[in-house]
Amino acid sequence: MAKFTVIGGNTSSDLGKRIARKLKAPYIKTEKKVFPDGESKITINRIPKKSIVVVVQSTYPPVDTNLLELLSIVSKVRKFSSKVFAVIPYMGYARQDREFLDGEIITIGVIGKLLKASGVKKVLTVDIHSKLALKELKISSENVSAMEVLVKHFKKMKMKDPLVVSPDLGGKERAGKFSKLLKTDFVALKKHRDRRTGKVDILTGKINVKDRDLILVDDMISTGGSIIKATQFLKKQKCRRVFVACTHALLVNNARKKIRNAGVTQIISTNTIPGESAKVDISKVISDALK
Ligand code: R5P
Repeated sequence: MAKFTVIGGNTSSDLGKRIARKLKAPYIKTEKKVFPDGESKITINRIPKKSIVVVVQSTYPPVDTNLLELLSIVSKVRKFSSKVFAVIPYMGYARQDREFLDGEIITIGVIGKLLKASGVKKVLTVDIHSKLALKELKISSENVSAMEVLVKHFKKMKMKDPLVVSPDLGGKERAGKFSKLLKTDFVALKKHRDRRTGKVDILTGKINVKDRDLILVDDMISTGGSIIKATQFLKKQKCRRVFVACTHALLVNNARKKIRNAGVTQIISTNTIPGESAKVDISKVISDALK
């Protein structure tokens, strides 16, 4: 009997199938119907046989809807397996990992409670926004990195004297890892985000990037604000081309167009979120971690 059964939620059906293939596990589809009032009705199209059930569902926008769908699937399959793992490749709410301003709620902690209550035994994420977010889930969890597979992709691209750039100091470790694997150097910019307005500013002074191809490395792009400010800053320093490598390309509010207009040559992301820039497959990294 197969050790795993994989169930793909509506946000991650392609990735779920790929993970199932790599685990040599049966794959179960889910069907989704949306009622006129906005409620979604999820049906699993087969009952899993006795095994570890892996539910794959990224919680990208609409975040709350996709999260509820994940919780619904888990609570259903929990009846047939005592071991249900939630693979949440892109984990929404991970940026709400601390009380930045008085009265704010650490929502990632609330999600941890919901996952536990619905029957999740273990959570697996990919490049979750922060270690603190993983800790706040307060549930058995593992985070895997997409940096190696992203670097593999960039190694095939022709670059002139590449330099890895982190758009903020928070991403220093990630960019450091990326640059080490690419065998090049890296620099981290100093970014300031106004916690009330969300406005982003780059505080770094002059840096020497003249005529070099740059790779901006980040965990996620949402509105593109961070990448756009960093690109504008780097272009002023007379760099050559700017590429973006990120794990999760949410690209909300027309971000792709805005980023392109700011001068970015190409965005390369993983398939934690399907889309035009999802050129890098993360399924092997996830299935290796599950084995
Ligand atoms: C911030 O610390 C993150 O790593 C991302 O840089 C940021 O959240 C991306 O958001 P946006 O694209 O809206 O600037």
